[in-house]
Amino acid sequence: MQRKGKKKTMFLIAAVLAAVLVFSAFALSQKLSVQRYVLSTEKLGSPVRLAIVADLHSTLYGESQDELIAAILQESPDAVLFVGDIVDDGLSEEPVRFLFEALSPQCPCFYVSGNHEYWSGRYSAIKAMISGCGVTVLEGEAAPLVINGQELCIAGVDDPEFWGGYSAYGGYDVPAEWLTQLKACGEAAAKSGAYSVLLSHRPELVDIYRGSGFDLVVSGHAHGGQVRIPGLVNGLFAPCQGWFPQYAGGAYALGSTTLVVSRGLCRNELPRVFNRPELVIVILSPET
Ligand SMILES: [Fe+2]
Repeated sequence: MQRKGKKKTMFLIAAVLAAVLVFSAFALSQKLSVQRYVLSTEKLGSPVRLAIVADLHSTLYGESQDELIAAILQESPDAVLFVGDIVDDGLSEEPVRFLFEALSPQCPCFYVSGNHEYWSGRYSAIKAMISGCGVTVLEGEAAPLVINGQELCIAGVDDPEFWGGYSAYGGYDVPAEWLTQLKACGEAAAKSGAYSVLLSHRPELVDIYRGSGFDLVVSGHAHGGQVRIPGLVNGLFAPCQGWFPQYAGGAYALGSTTLVVSRGLCRNELPRVFNRPELVIVILSPET
């Protein structure tokens, strides 16, 4: 009788352990995911697909970035937008070079800096490497992108931290130099009259993006708030937003501007909980 009870307890412990293991594997999965957003616009006559790569932090996906390159190309993007912290300040830029070298000959690529590239202290060398791979580096300027005979305006600003705009919990003063870059981008976008996209590493500057005139702003930086509880908490903490960040990942309507925030691709640092690294695909769809 006693032996039967002991067996039952052992079975129960094993079952609980197995459940914990399965749950942990699911919750802590770092498998690459693809998040797609469809945005409609009357400014385009045929669909445009934009791949958003954010916060890679020099993470290597397979040998020579094969896994990430394949995932991006499988989505047949018309352009790839790199929105900062692609290189980590404490790691080599070599894993990133693989990505730029493979993608740049395939489709137009655009890049803006993040705070970690600034913190590396070697931004000039990083920038030279990136532009040397054929990627357009945007620093307060705009460039035209022609897809299927239709023009888009792709603009980009540096990370505000270049001039001291950073605070873990937010509430920092936005540097005048950053606002000057943004103004130049806005003027170029307005002049083009085309569907306009702003690449800006920081998602928390929503009050500035709202009413900025851009059709789309793409950001990263928040890493999905690191810890998520599906359906309940969209992120526990994000730099420059603090606890329970409002803009940790997703698509947000800011008047006539849509802000898309990538949860990023980093899997080097803190554990991600219910927060798999994500490649974001934005599909711009003509309004019918
Ligand atoms: Fe960042």
